[in-house]
Amino acid sequence: MTHSAAPQHQAPMTSGARSPAVGTNHGAIFTGDTTVQAPLVLPPPADVSTPHGMHNLPRPVGHRFVGRAAEMAALEQALQPRNERAATHVVTQAISGLGGIGKTTLAMHFAHTHRTDYTAVWWIDAETLETITSSLAQLTARVNAGTNTSSAPSADLAEWALTWLDTHPGWLLVFDNATHPDHLAPYLARLTSGDHLITSRLTYGWHDLGATPLHLDVLAPTAATSLLYQLTRSDPNSEASAAQELADELGYLPLALEQAGAYIRRTRNTYSAYLHRFRTQAARMLNTPGNGDPHSITIARTWRVTLDTIAERDPLAVHLLRVMAWLAPHDIPRDLLNGIADEPDADTDALALLNDFSMITLTESTSAMHRLLQALARTPDAQDPHRSDTAISQAQSTAATLIHDALPDAPETNTAGWPRWRALLPHIDAYLTHTHPETDTAETDWILYSASRFLRGQGRLSQATQYAHRSAATSARINGEDHPDTLASRNNLASAYASAGDLGRAIPLYKQTLNDSIRVLGEDHPDTLASGNNLAGAYASAGDSGRAIPLYEQTLTDSIRVLGEDHPDTLASRNNLAYVYASAGDSGRAIPLYEQTLTDRIRVLGEDHPDTLASRNNLAYAYRSAGDSGRAIPLYEQTLTDSIRILGEDHPKTRIVRDNLREARSKSG
Ligand SMILES: Nc1ncnc2c1ncn2[C@@H]1O[C@H](COP(=O)(O)OP(=O)(O)OP(=O)(O)O)[C@@H](O)[C@H]1O
Ligand SMILES: [Mg+2]
Repeated sequence: MTHSAAPQHQAPMTSGARSPAVGTNHGAIFTGDTTVQAPLVLPPPADVSTPHGMHNLPRPVGHRFVGRAAEMAALEQALQPRNERAATHVVTQAISGLGGIGKTTLAMHFAHTHRTDYTAVWWIDAETLETITSSLAQLTARVNAGTNTSSAPSADLAEWALTWLDTHPGWLLVFDNATHPDHLAPYLARLTSGDHLITSRLTYGWHDLGATPLHLDVLAPTAATSLLYQLTRSDPNSEASAAQELADELGYLPLALEQAGAYIRRTRNTYSAYLHRFRTQAARMLNTPGNGDPHSITIARTWRVTLDTIAERDPLAVHLLRVMAWLAPHDIPRDLLNGIADEPDADTDALALLNDFSMITLTESTSAMHRLLQALARTPDAQDPHRSDTAISQAQSTAATLIHDALPDAPETNTAGWPRWRALLPHIDAYLTHTHPETDTAETDWILYSASRFLRGQGRLSQATQYAHRSAATSARINGEDHPDTLASRNNLASAYASAGDLGRAIPLYKQTLNDSIRVLGEDHPDTLASGNNLAGAYASAGDSGRAIPLYEQTLTDSIRVLGEDHPDTLASRNNLAYVYASAGDSGRAIPLYEQTLTDRIRVLGEDHPDTLASRNNLAYAYRSAGDSGRAIPLYEQTLTDSIRILGEDHPKTRIVRDNLREARSKSG
């Protein structure tokens, strides 16, 4: 090694023509220190051969790598280790995804598996520009083992490493945990003969670097459960279903599984016990290190850093995340979130930012958020500025407003609104599950009431009853026992009982509601008429035509007087009256009444209205009861075709028509 008389004021360069260390023949590196130091001289990079099997991979974690076969195959396909082209090309692959999803672990597994397929494998901590530099400096130190490089500036050593890499093709560089594509751009641009594998929470910007992106999702259920078994060192046959349930509850997120597994093992707990604790205090468990070391990484801490960065850029994005926490994790309709900001497109920008950092997964029409992130974002924590009590309750009430405003009207009959209902229901269910009934507001009440009507119409009776019950209780608490909304809710609850065939509960509740309606709203109020109509219907279902017929007749007369001949409720009354006539065997009265109602409904509601279909089905039934299969069967056939088209194959009313047609055919044949 020679000493050169380097001027002390010359600053060390990290790149560019003036860099003294790179590609120069003299091979000198100058320090930028003001004290005189013996400058380090390294040989020209091209002259230094690769130490055999060189790598700096950390040892793999203690437990076995699970799952990820498809992802490994994708990496192998893209990077093609062992392929000669590594010598002349650069291939860049990025793995992105939520914190704790297993990006580093996958990259590590790939690097270990293919270590001998590369001339060298170097792991670079890519969190900051400094860590990248220092990881590359270590490469220089390794290649020049035997030379003390500790006195040289990292930047110069890193520069030497780059030239060395460029003159020794066939390597793999792993840039782990990159926080910005710009940090890597200078390196990727310079290196032209090897494979780059990048891991980052960022989904954005990799394309511009010429990288193929791979977005990592959670583990497959079997892989997740097998990871739990390994971590707890338990017998896969013991508590198998509890282990599966726990893996599911943790959303198959590796970091969460690892934290839970370590905790279970250390505390000698069972899966079920952990599951119970998790269900009652998810956020606390997410903040509890599995190994008992208060400094070790937890889920909560992992995500906190990302949230800090996002909040700095756009506080609305964090609010949006807290709002989505109250919905179902998957298939959140993006248009549901439109109303969140006053400014147009502010929600789009916020969603894009969350997606950039893998906090959500965005498609053109939906957004998804990991369930553990949701659990965390719903739980207040005084230590965490993103999770103050106020911010969380604000988000909860925003979520309710968004759902409330998105509900289509006339849930039973407005078939155009049904796809929307189907898209909203999982989110309504999630919101209601996460919200304590005692905190239900008027908005929540409306959601409960409307959803229960939709569910009842679709034949999902147990949930319909449950929501109707909660709505009746909420309305009584908020509005008072005698409020019209409370009466309407009770009427709806009685209908849910009746639809489920529970007339023992339905009839007394209808009676009470009818009496209350008469007292509070008056004899002629449309709600009172509807209550009378419903009670008569319940009598009819109970086979009590003695009570049903006079009540229907009375209601029909009142409806005509109050609402008019053509009001849909009047038509319903007429249809119902015809139904009891038919049930009582009085086809002479039933048929003309049905025929009239059908004509009126076609005129007033249209050919395709669900009530019109019901009229057709009923009329066919009356023909059949009168022994007239010649008219019954074709009418059933037409109604079935229409029902399938309008209501769907599996709608309860379609099923009724199908059964009726089958029976009519078997009787006539
Ligand atoms: N396929 C796997 N098999 C076994 N364990 C895994 C697997 N994937 C992840 N893990 C475990 O889960 C934990 C989190 O994974 P990892 O550190 O790779 O996540 P990450 O996506 O890199 O997170 P971050 O964004 O915070 O860097 C690790 O401790 C790892 O041991
Ligand atoms: Mg990582």
